[in-house]
Amino acid sequence: MSNAFINFDKVSKSFGIVTVVDDLDLSIAKGEFVSMLGPSGSGKTTLLMMLAGFEKPSSGAISVAGKRVDGLPPYKRNMGVVFQNYALFPHMTVAENVAFPLKMRGVSRAEIAERVGKALDMVQLGVFQDRRPIQLSGGQQQRVALARALVFEPEVVLMDEPLGALDKKLREQMQLDIRDLHRRLGLTIVFVTHDQTEALTMSDRIAIFNHGKIEQIGTPAQIYDSPRTQFVAEFIGETNLITGVVHKATDGLLSVRLDGGATIDVRASAPVEPGKQVKLSIRPERIEVNSATPAANRLKASVSDIVYHGDHLQLRVRSEGKDFIVKADRKAAPPELGDQVVASFSPEQCWIVA
Ligand SMILES: Nc1ncnc2c1ncn2[C@@H]1O[C@H](COP(=O)(O)OP(=O)(O)OP(=O)(O)O)[C@@H](O)[C@H]1O
Ligand SMILES: [Mg+2]
Repeated sequence: MSNAFINFDKVSKSFGIVTVVDDLDLSIAKGEFVSMLGPSGSGKTTLLMMLAGFEKPSSGAISVAGKRVDGLPPYKRNMGVVFQNYALFPHMTVAENVAFPLKMRGVSRAEIAERVGKALDMVQLGVFQDRRPIQLSGGQQQRVALARALVFEPEVVLMDEPLGALDKKLREQMQLDIRDLHRRLGLTIVFVTHDQTEALTMSDRIAIFNHGKIEQIGTPAQIYDSPRTQFVAEFIGETNLITGVVHKATDGLLSVRLDGGATIDVRASAPVEPGKQVKLSIRPERIEVNSATPAANRLKASVSDIVYHGDHLQLRVRSEGKDFIVKADRKAAPPELGDQVVASFSPEQCWIVA
């Protein structure tokens, strides 16, 4: 990427004989918000630790703004970090905690007072400046950690599951706060989360990790709407996976005979030879049941389960010897258990995954 600000070039990290980050290339633009999402142990924290300077790559190069940083200690990298286990200092007040990075950098007393005040205002905690961390709620503590990470005006902020310990409401508030700070200050943020909704709503791009490699990186829409592999399709959101054999390929459209015998059309992102076996992914909300205006692909199905979810219904329909999950809105009259229905979806909403 030509406008790369942070760049990982063939970076690997091994602990003993175990490789946890594997020959990884990653470019992040200035001002970008990139989330790392992936199963436990896939190497997300290790990647962040190498960028922050707490771990050294076994091989490869990391650069920021065109300069190698992998030899520099953390305090020379000018990165703010908010790690779940990088707790506040319990014996210091809120203001002292936030002042700490400035003291480390030899900033004058007067300037420290001014910048700490500003940082605490930013996270709306000015009134709590004399309290100790234990006298704050979990969310307030995380906001202090955020103020401490931002107070020295870093260009890059690294966050490792910063909201993991918060309840749903607070987490959503902090998500808005972080997004707002990101925009206002033009920060470059690398964010690790376990929460796919959080990654989808906050990020410019999402990197899906699997065994120390990035399996796919792209905008939330690219990752969600056109997952390239089965792993990505199943990791983000729910999906239906079906298999079949390509029997005809005409410009951009593939005709696929499903294992159950029916034929559907699929949008092809890359050419596929007739005769090849393929796996397809269709999101539950892309399938309509008994639509008045059904899309091109239509399968006869029977309704085998209906689960009420408040804002939508989740149906299980059986077709082609397979169960499909369908997320149905509640505007139309719902089918009943055992009903014979037509399940329809458009070729554009059906993706070949590797
Ligand atoms: N200092 C270390 N020594 C040995 N192995 C380590 C060390 N740090 C991490 N690992 C191993 O490296 C692998 C990747 O760990 P990492 O913490 O990067 O995963 P993660 O993707 O952040 O997982 P989680 O989602 O659970 O936080 C794990 O198998 C872990 O046990
Ligand atoms: Mg981790």
